[in-house]
Amino acid sequence: FIAGPCSLVIFGVTGDLSRKKLMPAIYDLANQGLLPPGFALVGFARRDYADEDFAAVVLDAVKQHARTSFRQEVWDHLAEGLRFVQGSFDDDAAFETLARTLADLDAERGTGGNHAFYLSIPPNMFPVVLDQLSEHHLAKPTAARADGYVPWRRVVIEKPFGHDLASAKELNALVNRVFPEETVFRIDHYLGKETVQNILALRFANELFEPIWNANYVDSVQITMAEDIGLGGRAGYYDGIGAARDVIQNHLLQLLALTAMEEPTSFEPVQLTTEKIKVLSATKLVAPLDETTARGQYTEGWQGSEQVVGLHQEEGFDPQSRTETYAAITVHVENRRWAGVPFYLRTGKRLGRRVTEIAVVFKRAPHLPFDQTMTEELGQNALVIRVQPDEGITLRFGSKVPGSGMEVRDVNMDFSYGEAFTESSPEAYERLILDVLLGVPSLFPVNAEVELSWRILDPVVEHWAAQGKPEPYEAGTWGPVSAEEMLARSGREWRRP
Ligand code: BG6
Repeated sequence: FIAGPCSLVIFGVTGDLSRKKLMPAIYDLANQGLLPPGFALVGFARRDYADEDFAAVVLDAVKQHARTSFRQEVWDHLAEGLRFVQGSFDDDAAFETLARTLADLDAERGTGGNHAFYLSIPPNMFPVVLDQLSEHHLAKPTAARADGYVPWRRVVIEKPFGHDLASAKELNALVNRVFPEETVFRIDHYLGKETVQNILALRFANELFEPIWNANYVDSVQITMAEDIGLGGRAGYYDGIGAARDVIQNHLLQLLALTAMEEPTSFEPVQLTTEKIKVLSATKLVAPLDETTARGQYTEGWQGSEQVVGLHQEEGFDPQSRTETYAAITVHVENRRWAGVPFYLRTGKRLGRRVTEIAVVFKRAPHLPFDQTMTEELGQNALVIRVQPDEGITLRFGSKVPGSGMEVRDVNMDFSYGEAFTESSPEAYERLILDVLLGVPSLFPVNAEVELSWRILDPVVEHWAAQGKPEPYEAGTWGPVSAEEMLARSGREWRRP
């Protein structure tokens, strides 16, 4: 799976994402021999850099954040293909320089007219950059080459894909005016995680789980993405967006889709997408939203031994900000497989610890032939997909406690990536960038998935907008009381991962 010769242009190359994720991922790909010899990376930004300054920035990012070890010869080779184009997004001359730079690279490094454009920029900049690419004839390959080869052009966009259904539709229309849908790669970095791709292997490569993966046996599903970090330094992006739009609309609904979808007829991108679209179309909120959703805002508290401030003391946040830092929703997947099974989705900042997991919680055995006192420590069976950290899967079930009685207690059977595999997992961005260069779209949500996800979430966000401030919760805890009540109403409780 080595990509063919190509150039990757990153807009917003001096930003955080580029430094922490994109540049290191590109080096890691090169280090594993997954980039073509003539690969070129072109940075585009306002800073007044020469190519050498840009190379120094990339090198620094690689040394700080790359996953694989540093090898001088890999770096030297990669550095030969680094170029920087200085300019602002409305600067015609800069785009002319970009076009010339790409043409020169085609000649010098054999990138053959294959160009990918990565928009790591705020969404309000999308229109101008897309227009420039179109006007400078960069979005579509001009013609087949003399040897008959038709070069490709692709665009990569980062979330947020709009802030509601209407704006997502506008954005999609805008992008598709310039780039045909099959050349658009929308990044949801959760889909690049090994443990997330493994959901389909777990379900469809085994006989063990699928027969009980339905409403006959499953009581409920809990999808949790908890973070311990706060929002210091991210006000510009996060204030007014909030946890539901930032994470539920994309990462958590994608996890739900993979957990709940039917088996695709093949792993061809179109078949996978078809099944995800079907399950997202069947996913519905549960009324009344007052009782089936919860939101909160962290206040000061302790995260381990560190004392941390509340959202309103974080730099850049208005003390009146109503942005939620915790969000939980209940949905039903209205089809035969999942009829009546609640899916609980929650995410939050400054929670007890960093953990993402999908817990499929099974019904209790229909009959327990034990004295009640013997099963007091027996909970519900659960299969927990540990997305991160400590990647793996846990199966929780009851087992006899050794001794003369017949006491039954919960135990865990664990699969851990670290123990089972000698292969290490690539970073999500490594996998996704490689797939862009290879032109494999399976791990990228299409237009319809983005729009369906907004269709699910919009009523929640509108409902919250009509309420007062989110409920406070202390940093370092597991979120607001209303989230506990949300499950308690049906006699359930959140797992403490
Ligand atoms: C991003 C969100 O998409 O995912 C961030 O915008 C969040 O708010 C991040 O912190 C978490 O990613 P990961 O891979 O660290 O779980």
